[in-house]
Formats: sequence, C-alpha cells, structure tokens
Amino acid sequence: MLVGNGWVDFVVGRAGVDEMSSDMEQPYRLDGKVALVTGGASGIGAAIARELARAGAEVLVADLDLEAAQGLAGELPLGRAVQMDVTEAASIGAALDQIPTLDILVNNAGISMAADLASTSEEEFERLMRVNVHGVYLVTRALLPQLLMSHGCIVNIGSVAGIVGVKKRFAYSASKGAVVAMTRQIAVDYPKEIRCNCVAPGTVQTPYLEGYLEKYHKHEKDKARAEMIARQPSGRLGTPEDIASLVRFLCSREASFINGAVLPVDGGWTAA
Ligand SMILES: NC(=O)c1ccc[n+]([C@@H]2O[C@H](COP(=O)([O-])OP(=O)(O)OC[C@H]3O[C@@H](n4cnc5c(N)ncnc54)[C@H](O)[C@@H]3O)[C@@H](O)[C@H]2O)c1
Repeated sequence: MLVGNGWVDFVVGRAGVDEMSSDMEQPYRLDGKVALVTGGASGIGAAIARELARAGAEVLVADLDLEAAQGLAGELPLGRAVQMDVTEAASIGAALDQIPTLDILVNNAGISMAADLASTSEEEFERLMRVNVHGVYLVTRALLPQLLMSHGCIVNIGSVAGIVGVKKRFAYSASKGAVVAMTRQIAVDYPKEIRCNCVAPGTVQTPYLEGYLEKYHKHEKDKARAEMIARQPSGRLGTPEDIASLVRFLCSREASFINGAVLPVDGGWTAA
C-alpha cells in the first residue's frame, strides 16, 4: 500500500491522497468490467479467470471444453461459460451474441509440443500455429469492435520460448514469438484505444505440464521435472497464480501506462 508512506503525499499532495484513498485501499480492482479468458477452463487460464473474478470482473470462461468451463464459471460470482474453439471463425462468431461488450480479453488458449526442427512434421507445425497464432488473431479480430468501444485491454499469454531459445521447442517457440510480435503490433496500431501486453511464463505447474511429462518423459518424470526447476533460478516451478496476479495488474487502472510490454514471469530464467 502506498497511502501513508509519504511517497503518495509527495507525488499527489494531501487532497489527492484523500481522493485516491478509497481506490488505493483496494488496488487493482476490476469492478464493472467484463473479461473473457480463452482456454479459461484449465491451468493458467482458470487461475486468471478466478483472479479477475476476485478483482470484481464478470468473467466469461471460453474453452473448447464446455463442461469444464461451466464447472469453473459456476464457482465465480459473475461467471459465464462460453464454448469456443479459437481456431474456428464460425465457433468464435457463434459466441459473439453472448459478448455484446468486453473490457478485457486474455488470449490464453495454447498447446505445446517437444521437437526440434528435423523432427517437427508439417502437420504438427501447422497445428501449433493454428491454435497459438491463428487463434489469437481470430479471437482478437472478432472482439476488436467491443474492445475499441470500451477502450479495453488485451493480455496475451506468450512464453519464455518466444523470447529465448528452448531446446526442442521449434514450432512452439515460433508460435510464441508470433504472439510477442502480435502484442507489439496491436499496441502500435491502437495506442490510444487499447492496451495490449504479453505475459511470458516460464515453466508452470499445470495439467498441460503433466501431460507433457507423461508424453515425453514417461519413465523419467522426476528427472525431467528437476531439470525444469533447475533452469529457473528461483528454484521452483511457477504456479498458475503467479501468472494470474500479473494479468490482473496489467488489466487494472494502475497499469494504464503499460502498453506493448512483454513481461516474463519465470523465476529469473530469462535473466540468467
Ligand atoms: N504450463 C506452462 O508451463 C506454460 C509455460 C509457458 C506458457 N504457457 C502457456 O499458457 C497457456 C495455458 O497453458 P496451461 O499450462 O494452463 O494449459 P492447459 O492445457 O492446462 O489449459 C489449456 C486450456 O486451453 C483449452 N484449449 C486448447 N485448445 C483450445 C482451442 N482450440 N480453443 C479453445 N480452448 C482451447 C484447453 O481445453 C484447456 O482448458 C498456453 O498458451 C501455454 O502455451 C504455459
């Protein structure tokens, strides 16, 4: 809390402090905002949906998996489930009736695979691009009128793999590099109308990580997990909540001067 520590008095003066104090008592609030989280039914997306709801937002949990989305939406005070396949314009279009207004879009739905260039098939490369890149493009374009109308904000979930090279992540890195580029491009094209930022997680404990370990390291999960921890100087895996906290902040009034930023949440991985 800044109030009462002298710094706020210095910056805004006493009257300013009184005006701000009700807001400052509860920072990073999103009351009255409508947010949509793609891939919101699991892992990082679910934690983001919960955190935005905790901040007071009405949250639309958009996912391929309607049942899981309904389960989570039912737990949130103002939650709603939306069935959406981010790779299909028709599926996104069908959901638009349920989204007449929107203040916050979190492009979180994503998939991964582990392979270097030589062992990445064209089919797999296209599948990754379809979900991780095309999905962000299609959803954001479809919801752009609502976001322009509300002077809203977008948070794209990238990855450290979009910033630095990670062994055997050829297609995934390419797709997340495109997410970083799309983030900056939207920030540049709509600088006064929309804020668009990217959060780049390191390795985070989610069902997706467990699926990865089961698929690629079935007989050496502990060793693979230890290696993932070792590359993050903080000495642990991230939690979905680590990511969700930053997303909430980026969507808040307090972050109103942050635009086009790519922010790692990786326990120091990309700093090392
Ligand atoms: N877990 C990590 O270590 C990690 C690290 C860096 C970045 N990320 C990124 O975070 C995001 C979420 O990852 P997670 O670990 O929570 O994954 P997860 O697999 O736990 O959840 C992903 C959700 O997206 C949904 N989804 C998948 N394809 C979809 C589609 N076509 N349309 C709509 N929904 C779809 C799934 O049904 C699921 O609910 C992804 O973009 C991922 O690349 C994850």
